[in-house]
Amino acid sequence: MRTLLLLAALVAAPAFAQGSIFPDKNLKKAAKQLEASSVSQEVRDFLKLKMKAHSKEMQELSVAVATVRLIDVQRLAQDIANEPRLDPSVGPAVKLPPRYFELQDEGKKRAQALSEAAKANEMSGTLEKYGQVVENCMACHAAFRAQVMAK
Ligand code: HEC
Repeated sequence: MRTLLLLAALVAAPAFAQGSIFPDKNLKKAAKQLEASSVSQEVRDFLKLKMKAHSKEMQELSVAVATVRLIDVQRLAQDIANEPRLDPSVGPAVKLPPRYFELQDEGKKRAQALSEAAKANEMSGTLEKYGQVVENCMACHAAFRAQVMAK
């Protein structure tokens, strides 16, 4: 038994030494592209564009909250709330699970609530709602980013 294990380890060693199960870089790249298509390039492209915008808006939003520029908070949060969303009934998005769309809708609501708190000039309300927006971004990434990226 021991000898067998040792043999198996010896046989497996070159594969580990290579650091990858793929014989070369091009094959690895091709495999990645294949995996990606299971979520569909269209959905990924949409998400990438949307998330790029989110990233910029969130940076501006954070600074606006921190510096108590509530007029800017109102505008930026409203922009986030108004952004186009993936329609669960159309095209490649039908492959995404319902939870994705729950989080998407929740995100819109939270951004809207943040905009309203800022509009009402509520400082602690603005901070609280801002935290809830960030929480929503985190929830979706924790649940889906790895999946979407890996597929
Ligand atoms: C309903 C789900 C969902 C919500 C809500 C969401 N994201 Fe994302 N986000 C994703 C997915 C999925 C990806 C990976 C897309 C890809 O590149 O394949 C992603 C990727 C990103 C990226 C790309 C960079 C990286 O590290 O991968 C940024 C930046 C980002 N999101 C920012 C945000 C911000 C800021 C918010 C909140 C305002 C947010 N997202 C809310 C689903 C979501």
